[in-house]
Parts: sequence; C-alpha cells; structure tokens
Amino acid sequence: MNIQVSKITGLIVLTAALLIGCGKSSDDEKGNTNSQEEKQELTEFEIRNGIGPVDEEITIDEIDPELAKEGMRIFDMKCGACHKLDTRYVGPPLGGIMNARTPAYVMNMILNPEEMLAKHPVAKSIGSEYPTRMTNQQLTREKARAVVEYLAQESQ
Ligand code: HEC
Repeated sequence: MNIQVSKITGLIVLTAALLIGCGKSSDDEKGNTNSQEEKQELTEFEIRNGIGPVDEEITIDEIDPELAKEGMRIFDMKCGACHKLDTRYVGPPLGGIMNARTPAYVMNMILNPEEMLAKHPVAKSIGSEYPTRMTNQQLTREKARAVVEYLAQESQ
C-alpha cells in the first residue's frame, strides 16, 4: 500500500516537475522572440522604400510612354486579377498609388510581398484590411520597373 502510494506520489511530483520545466522553457522562448523583434527595426530607407531587392531610391522624372505601355501589358496579365485602378477589388485600388508610395516601395511590394507583409508597418496595416494575401508574381526587376512606370502614368 505505502509503496504504491509513494510510487503514485512520485509520478505526480515527476509530472509536475516536467510541466513546470516546459512552462519555463516556453517563457524563455517568448523572451527570445521579443528581443529578436526589437532587433528587426527597419531603417529609414526601408520605411520609405520598402524591404527587398530594390535598395536604392528610384526616381521617375518624365514618363517613358513605351515603358508605361509595357507596364500596362504586364499589369493586365499579372495584377489585374486582384487590382483595379479606381476601385477596391481583391486588393486595394492602384490608380493613385504613386502619389502615396515611392517607386522603390512599390517595386519591393511587387518583388517581395511576403516579407513586406510580414515586416513593413504600412504593408501590414494595408494587409489587415484585406482577407487575401498578395502573392509573388515572380516578375523580374525590369518588369516590376515597367509596371511602376505605368502606375506612375496612371497616378498623374
Ligand atoms: C492574388 C491577388 C493579388 C495579385 C495577383 C497582386 N496583388 Fe497586389 N495586393 C493584393 C492584396 C490583397 C493587397 C493588400 C495587402 C495584402 O493583404 O496582401 C495588395 C497590395 C498591393 C500593393 C500595396 C498597396 C499600398 O497601398 O501600399 C501594391 C503596390 C500592389 N499590391 C501591387 C501589385 C502589382 C503591381 C501586382 C502585379 C505585379 C499585384 N499587386 C498583384 C493582392 C494581389
């Protein structure tokens, strides 16, 4: 009898110890995640121009109509399923986007939407208004640049 009781007590103590052990380690993990998030603060460049392969300012002085035309073709094929210029669709309307974001920001959103949506405060907040997530259309940098030329033309 006594031996059985002490066996049971032993088991209970062991289980409790394991549970407490687990609790502690998950607290530690939480602590680590927090400090990692703090380390991931964005630079001023990233706040303005987004996170991704485009790591320098892009300026558009005068619209190149040929490039804008190519951009329109790409937009119709790769973006039109989710975006309209003038109204909300699966994603936000993009007709005036170049008045609100820098060319590099929009290129990074096109080329690196996963990371933008995970880390950039502006993209995160836009994302919270849309149930669908933007997917990476695997455009080359040149094609993304052409789309931005088209969007700049439409934002005038
Ligand atoms: C599968 C649907 C889908 C496709 C395809 C898509 N997008 Fe999006 N896009 C979205 C959604 C939804 C959002 C809002 C953020 C989110 O929740 O992902 C968004 C957000 C954006 C934004 C950010 C707008 C802002 O106010 O900052 C830009 C710019 C953009 N898309 C451009 C494009 C371009 C250019 C293409 C084509 C190369 C494209 N998207 C293809 C769904 C899509």
